[in-house]
Amino acid sequence: MTMEPQEYHEALAQLAWQVELGADEAIGAVGVDRYAEKLIPKKVEKTVEKQSSKVVDEPVDISAEAARLAAGSGDLEALRAALEGFDGCALKRGARNTVFSDGNPAARVMIIGEAPGRDEDIQGKPFIGKSGQLLDKMLAAIGLRRNAEAAEEAVYITNVLPWRPPQNRDPLDDEKAMMKPFLMRHIELVKPQVLLLVGNPSSQTLLETDQGVTRLRGKWHKVAGIPALSIFHPAYLLRVPAKKREAWADLLMLKTKLDEG
Ligand code: URA
Repeated sequence: MTMEPQEYHEALAQLAWQVELGADEAIGAVGVDRYAEKLIPKKVEKTVEKQSSKVVDEPVDISAEAARLAAGSGDLEALRAALEGFDGCALKRGARNTVFSDGNPAARVMIIGEAPGRDEDIQGKPFIGKSGQLLDKMLAAIGLRRNAEAAEEAVYITNVLPWRPPQNRDPLDDEKAMMKPFLMRHIELVKPQVLLLVGNPSSQTLLETDQGVTRLRGKWHKVAGIPALSIFHPAYLLRVPAKKREAWADLLMLKTKLDEG
């Protein structure tokens, strides 16, 4: 493609402006004019067939749609497909992959993190970047591995959000609330013996509280009748290694619970 010098300098200035705004990578070969796109409305128009068999356009509540899709998913593959087909959450449009889960679905322990980061978005699996590597080491210290065949030694991992938030920002309340029906159905289908809630967004969403892990950790809670333990996020432990001592105490609580059977 040839460019006039004027266009070249304009393009360069626009690129510099985007870098200043925080854009740190190119995700497509062809530019997308986001200003020309319509914002996702709170209600989406969907064609539904009424009992009268007359076809009408009527607004569908996105949260109700999420709940309906989640409830209608009879197994994990159906739930994955339902998530991949759900367009109500704007995060999906900026994500490369829907990050559904990793590990052994027969595991006794189900781990719930926050949202994919850059590495997870690229590879389509949760917790594989630096914090995932620390999580794996923490689990190994109590004899657990994400891909162990034996259910007693395995874990199953997912996140509150299946799509990476831009610049790894914290998930918004609306996003967590919208995706919660999928998460609850995910837990229902896996039927773990124990839940490990990793970090604030996961703990707060599932324990329905504003308290942080500092207050929530060190004791057992219940989520849908399942014992749940809240633990510091490995990304936080990488920043504040002094907190590893408390995380270790929490891991030992988990091990004791599993040893009790
Ligand atoms: N942090 C999370 O909470 N989940 C991931 O999958 C990766 C990083």
